Amino acid sequence: MSITDTLQVRVKSISWEAEGILAFELRPEPPLRTLPAFTAGAHIDLHLTNGLIRSYSLLNPQRETHRYVIGVNRDAQSRGGSRYLHETLRPGDVLTISAPRNNFPLDDSASLAVLVAGGIGITPILGMIHRLRELGRPWRLHYAARTRKQAAFAETLEAMGMEPGGEVHLSFDREAGAERLDVAAIAASLPEGAHIYCCGPVQMLEAFEQATASLAPGRVHREYFAAREDAATAGGFTVELARTGRSIEIQPGRTILECLIAEGVEPMYSCQEGVCGTCEVRVLDGEPDHRDLVLNAAERAANNRMMVCCSGSKSHKLVLDL
Ligand code: FES
Repeated sequence: MSITDTLQVRVKSISWEAEGILAFELRPEPPLRTLPAFTAGAHIDLHLTNGLIRSYSLLNPQRETHRYVIGVNRDAQSRGGSRYLHETLRPGDVLTISAPRNNFPLDDSASLAVLVAGGIGITPILGMIHRLRELGRPWRLHYAARTRKQAAFAETLEAMGMEPGGEVHLSFDREAGAERLDVAAIAASLPEGAHIYCCGPVQMLEAFEQATASLAPGRVHREYFAAREDAATAGGFTVELARTGRSIEIQPGRTILECLIAEGVEPMYSCQEGVCGTCEVRVLDGEPDHRDLVLNAAERAANNRMMVCCSGSKSHKLVLDL
């Protein structure tokens, strides 16, 4: 694992935000005095002591460089990440994290930001709301959770929605008489010049992608938490490393990343699920079989970059900038 961009932080506090959701405040560990700057929508990777690496969005205002704050949902399907954070991590513990990266940036020049969040998907959206409030830009939030008890930051958001320029619509789909959040209707009534953002569970994001398919791609922004499709492991192609001229055969049953590591090449990587963007590599020739959730349709079609943790190749050879 390449850890060139990591830093140490100490868990200052852990707070309860909703049923199953904790917020962790992370402060720089001396000699570090401030943390690298970030922009709304950014995430950090946590390198957990049980060997897992997990990505979490930063939810605090981007002007803050004295701390990072993340929100973590205790996932019933947890492979160890959220369970470790909820059950083992304690205030005072030191963590290794990556510097922030942003695959979900806010376009703060739009006339209106329409923000759609589901469950813990509220975390990057909350960071965006802080930024929009700071800039005095109008925003409208549609936030869905199963129940009010499971809606993190609901009271804070409702208070922000009372301010000029803000608007908050909450929906709780497991509560009696509740109406489901209608992503198609929200997209269909998107005002001229507005941008629309979504972060939430896969079903919500799939509905969002369908609902926004006819909008200009530059106005549509989304971020996934988890893989939607399996990694490409059919193999049977060659990867040429342009910087050294080496060729590596990608064997069936293995990803490009796994083959690169086996050959002693150490690219940066983190989630290994195609969601964090850490393993992005420039493609100089060939046609990738994109399986990630970082690149949008236009970026995929350009075929000039790929996530090697999950994507494969449609051509016999890929030439990578490695
Ligand atoms: S390691 Fe996260 S996208 Fe590849």
